[in-house]
Amino acid sequence: MMNRRHFFRVLIAPAVLPLAGTSDSAVAAEAARGLQDHWPAPDDPQYWRWIRQQFLIPPDEAFFNTGTLGACPRQVVDTVTRSTREYEETLAHWDYKPEHPDWFSGYRPLVELRQKLAQVIHAGAHEIALTQNATMGMNFMAHGLNLQPGDEVLSTNQEHPGGRCGWEMRAQRQGTIWRPLEIPIPPPDPETIVNIFAAAITPRTRVIAIPHITSMLGIVLPVRRICQLARPRGVFTIIDGAQAVGQLHVNVKEIGCAAYFSSPHKWLLAPPGNGFLYIRQEKLGEVWTTLCSSEWNNYRDGAYRLMQYGTGNLSLLKGLEAAIDFHLRIGPDRVEKRIVGLANRLREGLQKIHGVTILSPMHPELAGAMVTYRVNGITGPQLMDEMWKRKIRVRSMGGENGVRQSVHIYNSPEEIDATLEIVRALAAKHA
Ligand SMILES: Cc1ncc(COP(=O)(O)O)c(C=O)c1O
Repeated sequence: MMNRRHFFRVLIAPAVLPLAGTSDSAVAAEAARGLQDHWPAPDDPQYWRWIRQQFLIPPDEAFFNTGTLGACPRQVVDTVTRSTREYEETLAHWDYKPEHPDWFSGYRPLVELRQKLAQVIHAGAHEIALTQNATMGMNFMAHGLNLQPGDEVLSTNQEHPGGRCGWEMRAQRQGTIWRPLEIPIPPPDPETIVNIFAAAITPRTRVIAIPHITSMLGIVLPVRRICQLARPRGVFTIIDGAQAVGQLHVNVKEIGCAAYFSSPHKWLLAPPGNGFLYIRQEKLGEVWTTLCSSEWNNYRDGAYRLMQYGTGNLSLLKGLEAAIDFHLRIGPDRVEKRIVGLANRLREGLQKIHGVTILSPMHPELAGAMVTYRVNGITGPQLMDEMWKRKIRVRSMGGENGVRQSVHIYNSPEEIDATLEIVRALAAKHA
């Protein structure tokens, strides 16, 4: 048993080492002068420390809940505020002629922004519709395909409501069948999951709708192999990438899915209220739009047809653009390597602690940057609260399900080690 004095010292010591070098106000001033000149070289030993300083979360707080909502870099926050102010100040200048840009979104195809998003997932700009989040993408797909009563949609028992409920409603309303397949917890290897889908496909299967990374346990599903299974059978594949874009380097062409949607306000670090839906060129004609305005029937202009939901906030889209620039400047591969590496440090540390159960997979092909684990004798909310006493924000997954720790580029090895120290102390206390 750990001695009591040591236990308390562990709990109240500051979790995060103060950042050495540049002070926060100096960094803010640098940021205001412009990003280009100050971005460190890729081999600069201070690279990730500098990245951390681009976020507004105070240096003594560690944020590990990107799975719910990512933090925006200051460049993104500044872009949104600056553009909001600019639109307000110049509202009367907008004459609403076609040659003047709109001061809202909803009535223009915004091809340049779609092009940038397309670059992130290796698609074509015309294959991308801007939405407000993943839930909207899922609903466009669940309500937009021609399906008959008795047609089957295969899914998993690990769906977030934002990947599931449109299919449930369609099943109740129109008699389609929504069939969630059980994924073992944790799944031992990719083959096990692929085999579950291979065995479940029937002649009635029309759609497979699954997450790229599951919400609660962060399982990276073998989506490419599942899409390979589906394609020769004429099954329409839809991937919910809410947790994947910005966490992993996503290539929709390599995955080979028919559709893919996401919420860039999670791992791509864009402001909340941003989303997109990708539909592969050859499949676009099979999807009706669910929300309609003037261009609902425009079949010449790719996925623009699926962006017909009226007035939206253009400043948020400027923020999305700034977030994509930030992400691409670091590079998707570099982001993935860094954050999966940090998550591995967490997994390896947790594995060595007696009394801890890791619920997320350990197989390297199934593991990403999210780790869900529990500590014997302590509930998820209690563990979350203990962490927050040391200014570490993880998310409780409920009583028996422990906490989910999402690791992103604003996290450091020191923060991971601080987490492990707390878990070690709690596990010893409750042994
Ligand atoms: C896998 C998955 N799909 C969909 C959603 C819903 O995302 P949003 O609320 O941004 O639409 C989430 C949210 O956590 C998720 O994890």
